[in-house]
Amino acid sequence: MTAVRGSLVWFRGDPFATSSQDAVVHVEDGLLICQDGRITHAGPYDEVSRELPPGATVVHHRDKLILPGLIDAHVHYVQLRITAAYGEQLPKWLSNSVYPEEQRFSSLRYARHAAALFCNELLRNGTTTALVNCATYPQSVDALFEESVRRGMRMAAGKVLMDREAPAGLLDSSPKRGYEESLRLIEKWHGVGRSIYAVTPRFAIACTPKMLKLAGRLWREHPGTLLQAHLAENLEEVARVRELFPRRRDYVDVYEHYGLLGRGAVFAHAVHLSDLEWERLRATRSGIAHCPTSNLFLGSGAFRMPMAKRRHRAALVGLGTDVGGGTSLSLLRTMDETYKVGQVHSYPMDGIKLFYLATLGASTALGLDGTIGSLQPGHEADFVVLDPTATPLLAHRTSESPTLTDTLFALALLGDDRAVSATYVAGRLAHQRNPDADRPDG
Ligand code: GUN
Ligand code: ZN
Repeated sequence: MTAVRGSLVWFRGDPFATSSQDAVVHVEDGLLICQDGRITHAGPYDEVSRELPPGATVVHHRDKLILPGLIDAHVHYVQLRITAAYGEQLPKWLSNSVYPEEQRFSSLRYARHAAALFCNELLRNGTTTALVNCATYPQSVDALFEESVRRGMRMAAGKVLMDREAPAGLLDSSPKRGYEESLRLIEKWHGVGRSIYAVTPRFAIACTPKMLKLAGRLWREHPGTLLQAHLAENLEEVARVRELFPRRRDYVDVYEHYGLLGRGAVFAHAVHLSDLEWERLRATRSGIAHCPTSNLFLGSGAFRMPMAKRRHRAALVGLGTDVGGGTSLSLLRTMDETYKVGQVHSYPMDGIKLFYLATLGASTALGLDGTIGSLQPGHEADFVVLDPTATPLLAHRTSESPTLTDTLFALALLGDDRAVSATYVAGRLAHQRNPDADRPDG
């Protein structure tokens, strides 16, 4: 059993659909109790403490916020080393930086080193679940799941499927081979510990029609797996997709034609979409990973949150760091850029909305709501402890008892890994920033 005391914050609804205040649950002096990896109680300390067994230890995270573990809806662990590669936009960046680096992941040893670093960095940043692109090589998936299973994390990942328009050494030698290798990885890893396999056709440019067709088949044949791909990130990319698939109406239609839309499918970027494409994504309940640090770093464009969150017709949106196109593994840094990209469209988002996008919003976009992304009893016990006074500036900014919305906004705009006081995975402490800071109450 684990019991933690602090200010509990989670979401019971979508603040983009209702008011922010209706969507949030805030228990100022709260107690969270976990048993066997799940949350059993969450509520006011005075009430919930009666449920504690005699002699139970309560860890008091005094003056800190306890929220659901953050969820990264799109990231490439195989691109850690090329994060912040200077000066190029998507097509050149892929060929000059990404594809050479990903070829190094044919080495299991290299992959294991990166996977360990990646999982450590996620936890230091308060991220407890990520939807991850690996490289083409099955061993790059093995390395990540070995590491995440060892730590008890709910990780979703898959081998990239790609059979054209990249260096031969990185490509699947045939669509059939890519299908079969993915199938073996599903059998090996899906459902092991908390692992979820994600069928991963890289994007329509790098996949032949046959490859996309087999990706759709594989996903359908294995309910519970996810599907992830890139979508409409860059204007040159969109033009190339039009050339490669002249019979399809648009980019979204390419994926829809091959059975790749639906609940549990997550598309990264979605920057350059028509109204009709948005409509298809909404109607099929497909998820979107908004990756603002990447879209700005690669000069791809400004995601249109007002289009995604149209009243009564909202798309399912989570936040992705998209490292190495993105420049930080911190979802707090990503919320900061989310706010600024929203401002470009005169669409400011308050602290409640920003944190929703990285918790319940993301779990819903991944089809994992009810499992992760909330502190409501019954959910898996992944949570993060945030310190609103972690830096001198944050402390100054959050002094004089601000509202919850304001504290969350300050953490989103000014916070980073320093604000992550502790991270718990399946009810167990997995990262603690300053081990002397929080002592058991006894
Ligand atoms: N489109 C296809 N592959 C990639 C990738 O690795 N990163 C980004 N940002 N976009 C892509
Ligand atoms: Zn990506």
